[in-house]
Formats: sequence, structure tokens, C-alpha cells
Amino acid sequence: MTTEDFAPAKVNLALHVTGRRADGYHLLDSLVVFAGVGDRLAVTPGPELRLIIDGPMAGALTAEPDNLVLRAARFLGEERVVIRLTKHLPVASGIGGGSADAAAAIRAICRLRGRALPEAALTAPLGADVPVCLIGRPARVQGIGERVEPLSGLPPAHLVLANPGVSLATPAVFGALRRRDGAPLPPLPPLADVADLARYLATCRNDLEDAACALEPVIGEVIGALGDQPGCLLSRMSGSGATCFGLFADRTAATEAAAALRHRQPGWWVEEAAVLS
Ligand code: C5P
Repeated sequence: MTTEDFAPAKVNLALHVTGRRADGYHLLDSLVVFAGVGDRLAVTPGPELRLIIDGPMAGALTAEPDNLVLRAARFLGEERVVIRLTKHLPVASGIGGGSADAAAAIRAICRLRGRALPEAALTAPLGADVPVCLIGRPARVQGIGERVEPLSGLPPAHLVLANPGVSLATPAVFGALRRRDGAPLPPLPPLADVADLARYLATCRNDLEDAACALEPVIGEVIGALGDQPGCLLSRMSGSGATCFGLFADRTAATEAAAALRHRQPGWWVEEAAVLS
């Protein structure tokens, strides 16, 4: 018997850095959604714990014991499964990647074994993004990522995700921050449509964006190129980069924007996807 799961891209529509803990981790306040593009994971009972990685983005990713998927299995005390991970998302790119894979592995193993899912907050030691990825739907995330409050009532929206092919180490981006005392997110007003969402997001930021752009200036180009597309309501970087998103009201505009960007920048990874509700 095989259980399958989907590891959707995590997108930080806004990310404020509000402080720093004594252990160096940063306190965040973030509005997170998931996009209908992601990695696939299949878990099958087997003689021992094993990870097989394939797919268009498998690249240099190796099934070393510290791979987050294997750490997630061991976190559950699971030693007898073969996990096949099919990578579609760029690695180390600010859209969850390894954390989404770890969360999908936890969901799939729990389903295979008839177990209840662990509390989201308990999964934080696997990585700050794992708790929200375990929930996999719109949420406000606080603390270092362990405080997850699911949000309902976000309007339907489409995203274009674009990555210029540079990978950024998360600690390096946090390390390059100039300020670590940003205000929390403003209260979320009722949102009738995606234009309301864009207006709200315009009052927020991704506090990691300037630091990431200083390390990899091409990120500024990606944000600009997305923002120039007809129908793009807002463009911004996700997480610690380098993936950026454009927010669109309708699918046609998003699909056309993605096609135009792919044509202009054949070396970039570009995907159009709906926001998962
Ligand atoms: O938790 P995760 O492994 O994703 O974090 C990678 C690194 O990013 C941490 O070691 C830390 O340097 C930095 N980080 C942080 N504050 C957070 C999340 C990550 O400083 N809230």
C-alpha cells in the first residue's frame, strides 16, 4: 500500500521581522498562503527507512540522513518506509521546499500508519516553516514559526512564482538584516476581493527583501519584472528568497504573465498557480 501527498509551495504574502530571541532565531509575523504547485511524495512500507529523489528539480539534492524528509520520518519514530520525493519546486528558494516536503512526509506516514497528526507547534524543531506547512492552508504565523493561526475568508487569487536560479542561505539573509524590530502585521480587515487583499498587502512588507536583494541584486529585477506584467496587483519576495510572487485577480492574466516572463527569461523558473483555500 502506498500513500501519496502533495507538498505545495508556501508563499509569504507578507513577512515582518518583529524581534530576535536570545538563541538568535527571529520573531516573525507573516501572512502565509499555499499555491497549487509543489512537490509530490509517496510513502510505501519497506524493510528500512529510505529516500528516493527524482523529478525536474531533484538536481543536487541528496538523500543524506539530514534531509528534512528523513528527519521528519525519524521524528515520528518511523524506520520502515520507502519515501519517493518528486521535486518540482526549486531548492532553498523561500517557498518552503524542504519544509513542505517534511510536512507532506508527516501527513503521509500518519495516514499510512493510522496515526493522528502531531500538533503543528511540535514540529517546529524540524524547521520554522514546518508547522504552517503541516496545516497547508492560509494562516498567520508568529513566534519563530510555531504559532500558526489558520485564516478563513481570503478571496480567491492567482500567483505567478518566479525564481532567477540563485539560491540563498536563510541564515545569511537573516544575518544581513539591518533592522529586527519591525511592527507586527496590521489587523486583517474584511477582504471582499483580491483588490482588497492587494491594498492590505501594500501596507505590509517582506522585511527580508532588502537584505536578500543586497546579497543577490537579481531579486530586485524579478520583483520588477513581475510587477510590470499587465494585471499584476502586487509583487514581492517570499520568505528569505530568491523566489518572488506576483498577485493576480484572474487566471488568464496570470497565465499570460507567466508565459511572457518565460519567454523573456528562459533561465528563470516560472509557474502560475491558484492560491489554495
Ligand atoms: O528553521 P529553519 O531551519 O528553517 O531556519 C534556518 C535558519 O534560518 C536558522 O538556523 C536561523 O539562522 C534562521 N531563522 C531565523 N529565524 C526564524 C527562522 C529561521 O533566524 N524565525
